[in-house]
Amino acid sequence: MGDPVEHSLSPPMHNAAFKHLKMDYVYVPFHVKRDDLGSAIIGARSMGIKGLNITIPHKTEVINYLNEITQAAKLIGAVNTIKFEKKKITGYNTDGMGAVKAIGEKTPINGKKIIIIGAGGAARAISYQLLFSGAGEVLIANRTMENACKLTDDLRGNFNASIGCLGLNEKLNEELNDTDVLVNTTPVGMHPNEDQKPIVTSDMMHRDLVVNDIVYNPLKTGLLKEAEKAGAKTISGTKMLIYQGLESFRIWTGITPPVEIFERALMNGLGYKI
Ligand code: ATR
Repeated sequence: MGDPVEHSLSPPMHNAAFKHLKMDYVYVPFHVKRDDLGSAIIGARSMGIKGLNITIPHKTEVINYLNEITQAAKLIGAVNTIKFEKKKITGYNTDGMGAVKAIGEKTPINGKKIIIIGAGGAARAISYQLLFSGAGEVLIANRTMENACKLTDDLRGNFNASIGCLGLNEKLNEELNDTDVLVNTTPVGMHPNEDQKPIVTSDMMHRDLVVNDIVYNPLKTGLLKEAEKAGAKTISGTKMLIYQGLESFRIWTGITPPVEIFERALMNGLGYKI
């Protein structure tokens, strides 16, 4: 459920997995306006729907219609996955988990220094999940420093790790020298603005850095090109999308589909044949 939802790439991913696993399920996008959210959720439960993904702009508002919410989703303040059970409706957040799983494939997270660019909903979900996973230091770097510091104030209340906020300035350059992981959560470089200058360029990176851009269109963003130039490891935004979806699928069905099935469906949905 979302508004808009027509261009979501989740239906092809989930439906490909249902087909592959020969499961008698279907994943359908529902365009739901804000005023109808509550009745849509109650209606979905009444119709025996197993679960829902909730997307923009409903991820926070939806919390009002749940019986239970995981600790992570509560702290993040956003729910993207709902499971209906006999007597309760439970909310989860798999967005941050998706990013952390993708990063975890390239480097252990425990004790690492991580810089997140941006301070919106995605930055919030990812930073919480990274701290849950034992990140040693998390810095939020944002165009509007005030927004970064608002997020770090919330984070500090819940974790003992080193947590800081900064602007997109010289300080970011300095901090990057000994950073292990860089995550971009801003729309910079997203189609149709592929040529926009990345916030971090190759001269600010080092070989041991892992760079994750959550933008997935284009697949190789300007930031990831800069990372390649610096010899750093890169993670495409498709990974977060795939892993958050796999985790939602697991919550609803108890089964984790093969990652390749999701990946192929997503790539096809984006117009790449693999
Ligand atoms: P989401 O909820 O999807 O994470 P968002 O809430 O719109 O998206 O957050 C977008 C983030 O990208 C914000 O941190 C925004 O910075 P501001 O807080 O200064 O608005 C950042 N952002 C958007 N466009 C940007 C740009 N051109 N350069 C730098 N940062 C940008």
